[in-house]
Amino acid sequence: MEEEEGKEAVNKYIGDLRKKIHYHNYRYYVLNEPEISDAEYDRLFKELDELESKYPELVTPDSPTQRVGANPLEEFGAYEHSIPLLSLNSVSAQSEVRDFDERVRRFLGGVEEEIEYVVEPKIDGLAMELVYENGVLSVGSTRGDGKTGEEITQNLRTIKTIPLRIFSDADAPPLPLLEVRGEVFMPVSKFKELNEELGGKGEKMFANPRNAAAGSVRQLDPKVTAYRPLDFFAYGVGIAEGKEFSTQWGVLDYLRRIGFKISPVIRRFKEFEDVIEYHEKVKAKRDELDYEIDGIVVKVNSIEQQDRLGTISRSPRWALAYKFPAREEFTRVMDIVVQVGRTGALTPVAVLEPVPIGGVTVSRATLHNEDELRRKDVRIGDTVVVERAGDVIPEVVSVIKSKRTGTEKEFRMPDRCPVCGAEVMKEGPIVRCIGVSCVAQLKERIKHFASLRALNIEGLGEKVIEQLVDRKMVSDATDLFFLTKSDLLKLERMGDKLAQNILDALEKSKHTTFFRLIHALGIRHVGEHTASLLADKFRDLESLRNAGYDDLISIPEVGPEVAKSILLFFEQGSTKELLDKLERAGVSYEKKEVGVAEETVSKVLEGKTFVFTGRIAMPREEAKGIVERLGGKAASSVSKRTDYVVAGEEAGSKLDTAVRLGVKIIDEAVFMRLIKKRKL
Ligand code: IVH
Repeated sequence: MEEEEGKEAVNKYIGDLRKKIHYHNYRYYVLNEPEISDAEYDRLFKELDELESKYPELVTPDSPTQRVGANPLEEFGAYEHSIPLLSLNSVSAQSEVRDFDERVRRFLGGVEEEIEYVVEPKIDGLAMELVYENGVLSVGSTRGDGKTGEEITQNLRTIKTIPLRIFSDADAPPLPLLEVRGEVFMPVSKFKELNEELGGKGEKMFANPRNAAAGSVRQLDPKVTAYRPLDFFAYGVGIAEGKEFSTQWGVLDYLRRIGFKISPVIRRFKEFEDVIEYHEKVKAKRDELDYEIDGIVVKVNSIEQQDRLGTISRSPRWALAYKFPAREEFTRVMDIVVQVGRTGALTPVAVLEPVPIGGVTVSRATLHNEDELRRKDVRIGDTVVVERAGDVIPEVVSVIKSKRTGTEKEFRMPDRCPVCGAEVMKEGPIVRCIGVSCVAQLKERIKHFASLRALNIEGLGEKVIEQLVDRKMVSDATDLFFLTKSDLLKLERMGDKLAQNILDALEKSKHTTFFRLIHALGIRHVGEHTASLLADKFRDLESLRNAGYDDLISIPEVGPEVAKSILLFFEQGSTKELLDKLERAGVSYEKKEVGVAEETVSKVLEGKTFVFTGRIAMPREEAKGIVERLGGKAASSVSKRTDYVVAGEEAGSKLDTAVRLGVKIIDEAVFMRLIKKRKL
């Protein structure tokens, strides 16, 4: 008996804790206005998590700990909507919207009746229905054909802006049944990040945020969906048992009060002219929003009027989509060229017959990389669909193969850099130029060469380097050593004193150590750590240059990729020239690194906590060591305070915890980038 009572108390305590967490979740994710610190939130979450592990029988499906956890499905089941999800008639000409208003007025029987319109953005995502039974999310489904959709509850549960339990409205008990309708979408900025990540791994990229949202929400494994940055805006209700609404505005307001995210772009107007004006205004601001909208939806506000207007052929007479011009156009690929980026990546770019897309003339579109280009099979001369989302670089979405005439030409990636002629190296899907004097990369290379942990040329700041390259005063890093004072004085904002300081620093930097010099060369895959291994192994630059594959690979921690990169680097004519010039400039080095004080290592990971899980290529201990050397912490378990979880293959429960807590999850490639981004 006593035990029963104790349990009752625990149950109540857990219930209160959940309520608190739901509330703070809402403040954080929906309103973007947290009331408590992350640490405080973590504490609450952890407490709940621990209590639930202790009393597993008290876990409820609406608990904030239960967002992810379901196992992958074989396939989705069908879900029949109790009230069909309608579609919208859509128009794009102003005259057609005016016709809509006239029709509504005529139908409602005359000019005297006042009509108010609610205007909402038409989110370019996917329509969903969420069913709440007694306030708890029970089913989530896609619109499908309006009558029957797919049941994807376990995926929708992972979206942080979809409440697992809704708040009660004005302390009324939750409705026995409430169906909420809205749109799942992917923010444009997140879409860009996701695509970069997929492209970097050689995986298929998404053509636009909508496809990305569709691909993510229909994953059979909810863990994959949980990784994807999806969001949800609610805009309507189906059945709302025990609740009467008199206006659409009231519906939106109710949805907001019970915890849903509502688009901030909604308005209501009595004058139809204002609706038209608002359309123009939103259209002009379209690129500033972080979600794609393809128009506005105009809805008659009064539900009573809506009922009188009714529905014909599955579209309501009381609502209309007033579309914006498409952001997708057909055009022709006149050529495919290759652009070399700052880091040497070669990107194929389609040169297009210029075409206006959503108010901007587009004449180039990215094809990302060779794998993507092959997948889409884009050829010179093809007619293609080009799309522009937000301020994202336009891209070729697909080829209209039926328009081919047989004269189209296939494109091959060059095996030399189109900018400097050096060889290129393939790294997964990315082709990279390895030329040490490649103009496309020169600024970055020289910045690296001069940086603190390389040759440490004090006073040679970014601005100076940029001017030197732009004015063609240097064509590789070693040219720095041949600059004279009168050369430097030609630069903007350069006085005698600064020029002298730079010359002195250059002189000083000529006496360096082997490790620094190797690091300064900027050999692909040879960061600080590998540079120090090479400096230990080889006597001097000459013997490093003459090293064979087997010599390199015999160094523990130097793998085939690194070894090949070193060999290729030293094979280049431009490298040979650079090394000769180093010698001519009088650069000398000592074999041993002497006293690089710990504090000069840039602590770019200061205050950041990392947790590693699963198998990664780099030895775990080494990865932890790097994190610590850069000022970060490597922890063994995940909490809300964890900044990054680095997930390798076969990552386990730590990954689940990270997903649940919303901790940023990165893979090894991103981790490598993170530690390389450090300013040295
Ligand atoms: S209302 C009764 N409101 O547009 C009208 N739909 O063709 C039913 N959509 O499948 C929809 N934003 O995916 C409505 N604010 C909004 C919307 C919206 C986007 C989509 C939805 C639906 C399609 C209608």
